Amino acid sequence: MMDGSFETNWDLARTTMGGGMSRVLVVYGTKTGCTAGVAEQIGATFAEAGAIVDVVPVADASSPDGYDAVVVGSGVRVAQWHAPVKEWVTANAAMLKGMPIAFFTACLTMASEPEKADEVRAYTDPIVEETGVQPVDIGLFAGMNEPKTFSLPERLILKVMKAPEGDFRDYEAVVEWTRGVAGKLGVS
Ligand SMILES: Cc1cc2nc3c(=O)[nH]c(=O)nc-3n(C[C@H](O)[C@H](O)[C@H](O)COP(=O)(O)O)c2cc1C
Repeated sequence: MMDGSFETNWDLARTTMGGGMSRVLVVYGTKTGCTAGVAEQIGATFAEAGAIVDVVPVADASSPDGYDAVVVGSGVRVAQWHAPVKEWVTANAAMLKGMPIAFFTACLTMASEPEKADEVRAYTDPIVEETGVQPVDIGLFAGMNEPKTFSLPERLILKVMKAPEGDFRDYEAVVEWTRGVAGKLGVS
């Protein structure tokens, strides 16, 4: 660029680097920070593979325009992703339908009853049905139940459900999934 602009030109960077660098957007929704940790690990794993990655909380996420692949994830309340994440997918569905996209879900069922993975996978079925956005894969990860991060009513619900207490995030599982999904997303 000869106009004195120092704005990053990723297309130019990609061309210069031989075209192998993918731009990946990781968008996440969290109530307690649990899913932020999972999203950051996903982003770091893509970056290690050579991708240019933005990991963005959904409140700050704009359009996926300009990215080569997208990963969207959320924590869960009562078998559903957090509303702002669903809304972001809906608002950007037209573009996301034309892009490689993966979902991931962080929740307690994957910690206490991983044999119910099919139930957890189905948490995002309504989003797929309503938006037509079809993920290449859905990462299913154990989340956390740290009572101090919840409101009193939330704590009571989890107590009644006899949910185990602790941080059950398994970062090795997150890395393994990310390495596997990178190929499906065309990320390099
Ligand atoms: C009120 C409430 C409802 C929940 N419902 C579910 C549920 O239906 N299924 C599940 O697997 N986990 C459920 N969880 C567990 C959360 O998904 C888990 O704590 C997760 O780590 C939250 O991630 P986040 O804080 O990043 O959103 C629930 C937690 C609370 C407080």
